Amino acid sequence: MLQTVDPRTRQAEAFRMDVWAGLARRRKALPSRWLYDDRGCELFEAITRLEEYYPTRTETAILQMHGAEIAAFCGEDAVLLEYGAGAALKTEILLDALDAPRLYVPIDIAGNFLKQTAARIRQRFQRLQIRPLAADFTADFEIPSGVPLTPRVAFFPGSTIGNLNEAETLAFLSRMRAHVGPQGKAMIGVDLKKDIPTLVAAYDDKKRVTAAFNLNLLARVNRELRGTFMLDQYAHEARWNDAESAVEMHLVSLQCQRVTVDGRSFAFAAGETIHTESSRKYSPDGFSGLAQHGGWRIRAMWTDPQRRFGVFGMCAA
Ligand code: TRP
Repeated sequence: MLQTVDPRTRQAEAFRMDVWAGLARRRKALPSRWLYDDRGCELFEAITRLEEYYPTRTETAILQMHGAEIAAFCGEDAVLLEYGAGAALKTEILLDALDAPRLYVPIDIAGNFLKQTAARIRQRFQRLQIRPLAADFTADFEIPSGVPLTPRVAFFPGSTIGNLNEAETLAFLSRMRAHVGPQGKAMIGVDLKKDIPTLVAAYDDKKRVTAAFNLNLLARVNRELRGTFMLDQYAHEARWNDAESAVEMHLVSLQCQRVTVDGRSFAFAAGETIHTESSRKYSPDGFSGLAQHGGWRIRAMWTDPQRRFGVFGMCAA
């Protein structure tokens, strides 16, 4: 007999496995996707509106400022595939600029979120067809065959590409290349290298919203996995890793302590950290080189006057 497993049970199981494995490592680390429960998503939305967090408003301004050129690059009748669509706030700006887009395919693992987003976009763009796709863009998946092949344009804003490591980035770029086909195009938002204080401040704001976002991961372990983290005994830290060209978020143990997670116990030395997320920063040349390896030719980089952020327009090579 076929046994059906509740997806929530499967999710809780996967979370437990990741936390047990991550805390047993010599350098403790947890996969960043667990940061985004309901509370995490709420805090993240607040982060994107912070004074110190420049990427969201900079990318939005770039899309607005260069709308006509971007529309010319994407062409008429575009089939827009958006990876990790989430609330898709920037998509409205892009859709506004595009010339009679044919179909919008928002792709996200959060199915509920996806439905709300699709409904909102449908309200605003009544002639646009919408076909939401629930999938994890960091794993292999197919675009349904009913989606017209040309001209497909992949859209990946938010510098989310920076949260992937090098191997994941290459795998992602190649997958996206396969999804759009030989005539396909892509637009990718990338946060650019700049002075370190500006970079670090974006992940360590004065109002401590990013700290709350990071610490929510431990609160989530306590809530969902019977964890015993004492939240005031861990501190948020954002640090620059020059070798990786990335801002890293860590949770620092303020004392020597033990914690239990669903019956398993883990020891922390004072000052030991859990690495929770990396956000890579690229030079225009560095990103272009990587994109070429992934099967793309760079056609344009739209940027802001301070060159803080780049939106790369690329064609399948
Ligand atoms: N991808 C964006 C970035 O790296 C957004 C983001 C992901 C983020 N995780 C974050 C922003 C944690 C602040 C804190 O910048």
